[in-house]
Amino acid sequence: MKTEIAVIDEKNIDMSKVKKAAAIIRRGGVVAFPTETVYGLGANAFDEEAVKKIFIAKGRPQDNPLIVHIQSVDELENLVYDISDVAKKLMNKFFPGPITIILNKKESIPDVTSAGLKTIGIRMPKNKIALALIKESGVPIAAPSANISGRPSPTDVERCIEDLEGRVEGILGGPCSEIGVESTIVDCTVEPPCVLRPGGITLEQLREVDIDIYMDKAIMQKPSKDLKPKAPGMKYRHYAPKAPLKIIEGNVEQTVAKINEMLQNYIDDNKKVGILACDETKSRYKDGIVLSLGSLDNMQEIASNLFEALRHLDDLDVDIILSESFEERGIGVAIMNRLRKAAGFNIVRV
Ligand code: TXA
Ligand code: MG
Repeated sequence: MKTEIAVIDEKNIDMSKVKKAAAIIRRGGVVAFPTETVYGLGANAFDEEAVKKIFIAKGRPQDNPLIVHIQSVDELENLVYDISDVAKKLMNKFFPGPITIILNKKESIPDVTSAGLKTIGIRMPKNKIALALIKESGVPIAAPSANISGRPSPTDVERCIEDLEGRVEGILGGPCSEIGVESTIVDCTVEPPCVLRPGGITLEQLREVDIDIYMDKAIMQKPSKDLKPKAPGMKYRHYAPKAPLKIIEGNVEQTVAKINEMLQNYIDDNKKVGILACDETKSRYKDGIVLSLGSLDNMQEIASNLFEALRHLDDLDVDIILSESFEERGIGVAIMNRLRKAAGFNIVRV
């Protein structure tokens, strides 16, 4: 399949390119597009055949529901019912932005979009190209992250091209995703509302709206028979680089010492080692390919560099990746959730 690729400036949007991409969506095609969290891979949420193409292009399991992206709250009427007061407050405060609200879906949304669930995730992205694309398409856009299933989500257009060229009708490029981890998912069909995936909006921010909001216990731990995450997608190994990833969890001093010790053993075995570090520690490793995710003073920067760093280490063909861990506060919760899942919960505690 020939993929139409167009890159545009979010501050000076070339509407002719957006219109071309919207035409692809309207005629049942699939288009990758930028959002502030990660790039999405979109199709008309109402069009069963179009949505099926997303699953095929990504190699996504059929039981993993998609998020429906809107550009105006007026669209909700046609999509969902029973919008609770908390849901309304969350939308008021955080739309457009990195949050997805799970609500009861109307018949208008086909089962393939919601993977057979009676509920659907609704998100209004902040990125202006995404909003323009949804508006021009004239339909809500169902979109997962624009990666091949299991891989780290793409945060720039080059990574979308790498994963999807030849597999989708269009790729619309824009800026790098500034948040860098996916939206926070809040299930508002249950009382109290439950966070199914930590993301761009922090738990602290959510609790400013409703202190009762809690987090699904299965999110930060290895899923087991008794502990199954409520978001179907959270049960799969995800965000994973090709090389095995180990997370070293402990205080900074212990972590640096442990990574140096492990590093030496791998180097002695002739292994190429990648290290995910931060500005504060990057000079303390004696060998290996050290990537800093940013400064601990700016956790948002660390989040925005995470997926790209994992992909970069893949490009460098490392045999093993050792990662530092980050404080589980604010956006740090989402960072540690993605890291642990990427590592398949391979954690070394020191
Ligand atoms: O930031 C984002 O949310 C990005 C951008 C493109 O908007 N999208 C994204 O979609 O991350 P995806 O498909 O990669 O992740 C959606 C997650 C999956 O874990 C899925 O299982 C869960 O949301 N999900 C979707 N609908 C759900 C529902 N009705 N109930 C529970 N979980 C749901
Ligand atoms: Mg995804």
